[in-house]
Amino acid sequence: MSEEAGAGRARLSRWLLLVGAVVMLAGLLFGYDQGVISGALSGIEKDWSVSTLAIEIITSWVTLGALVGALVAGGMADRIGRRKAVLWAAFLFCIGAVIEAAAPGVTVLVIGRLVVGFGVGVASVAAPLYASEMAPAHLRGRFVSSYQLAITIGIFLAYLVDEFLSTGDTWRWMLGASIVPGLLLLFAMWPCTDSPVWYLRRGRRDDAAAAIERVRPEADVDAELAAIDANLQEQQASWGVVFSRAWRAPLVIGVGLAVFQQLTGINAVIYYADKIFAAAGFASPGSQTAATTWAIGAVNVLATLIAVAWVDKLGRRPLLFAGLIGMFVSLVTIAICFADLDHVTAHSTHAANTPSDAGVIMLFATMVFIASFAFSLGPVVWTVINEIYPSQVRGRGVAIATAANWGSAWLVTQFFLTLTNLLGESGTFGLFAFMCVVSYAFIWKLVPETKGKTLDEIQQQFADDYAG
Ligand code: BGC
Repeated sequence: MSEEAGAGRARLSRWLLLVGAVVMLAGLLFGYDQGVISGALSGIEKDWSVSTLAIEIITSWVTLGALVGALVAGGMADRIGRRKAVLWAAFLFCIGAVIEAAAPGVTVLVIGRLVVGFGVGVASVAAPLYASEMAPAHLRGRFVSSYQLAITIGIFLAYLVDEFLSTGDTWRWMLGASIVPGLLLLFAMWPCTDSPVWYLRRGRRDDAAAAIERVRPEADVDAELAAIDANLQEQQASWGVVFSRAWRAPLVIGVGLAVFQQLTGINAVIYYADKIFAAAGFASPGSQTAATTWAIGAVNVLATLIAVAWVDKLGRRPLLFAGLIGMFVSLVTIAICFADLDHVTAHSTHAANTPSDAGVIMLFATMVFIASFAFSLGPVVWTVINEIYPSQVRGRGVAIATAANWGSAWLVTQFFLTLTNLLGESGTFGLFAFMCVVSYAFIWKLVPETKGKTLDEIQQQFADDYAG
């Protein structure tokens, strides 16, 4: 290998590593934020003796902020650029973390949660978009799945921090610690250029060429610029076109998958994990966070790794079906265990200090639920959402599906405790189990297998189905 080629490859890998770091850190932010609140809730409740509604708002409004963030992120990333959008997201995330950690009361804490959520929402659209425009084609798929993997690692890290800090009154540190991934994202993004696609959109041809040369020194710059030019002609579809009959099928599939990913209860378990384990008889906060860290956090990461390895071999539909069956069985088991616990508590004179049999079964069922989600609906939903839209409506289609995902995450986390008051824990988990059945039917009827197809073939399949 010539010295020049060696230097080229080293430079290539350094810049690509940085782009990879950006997308991973954005996923970490997302995940840390999803996971951290579970361990912080009991300290907040103790400090301020707040109502169920306040707890639900503190927990769930981060997703409302993210919903707004995801909706504005597309326009923002087009106007100020992908790089600046990610930088703003990271900056807001850090500010929100400081507000949360220093909050004198519920209102300021909720404002902090909204600001953090907004940052997470912007990053959840802008960072994968940036990475997909920077990565060479053969690495693009890996970048999408590493984003989901990073989300699960973020959740796991948040649980570890919660566990580490679980003695004493440390919820402020738990929330404040999220400034660390925020700062790391700022540092990783700072030296990067914007994407060649964005530069070309703004008519900055020289910057676009320089960006390509920097990330892929061996690339044929003129050919790449011409390819991007051709794509940009196609990407001008208006909102009217996005909602037109021709593209209704992918729109319904994308939004449906995004919504079912949430209505089957994943974030109820992730956000309220400690509370679930407390109800199952894990008496001390320490034992609750330990159960949460390992039964949920670690299992989530490991099962996602399996999906990343198998999604292209087994296909999307088999993974989705197998996952939904596992989720259904475990949710029904959890519902039955809760019914049993209610029965035992109603008939016993003292509260349990160690997990009962039903509590232990519930712990295992929760692990099966998380694993089943993590190798199916978790990563596969995002993969399908990113591959079913034709290129001229992809940006807007993905944004609508992402916003629908945050919206339904908000619904579930906002009303989970209210639902459990209304239907009991048992009824609520029964409802999530029922949603698995509905999701199964939806996927069975509408979601095509996209394994091994090029994006063009997938689009052709929709066009044929529509014509037929
Ligand atoms: C979902 C998140 C969820 C996470 C759990 C993601 O695919 O969109 O809402 O918290 O998986 O690993």
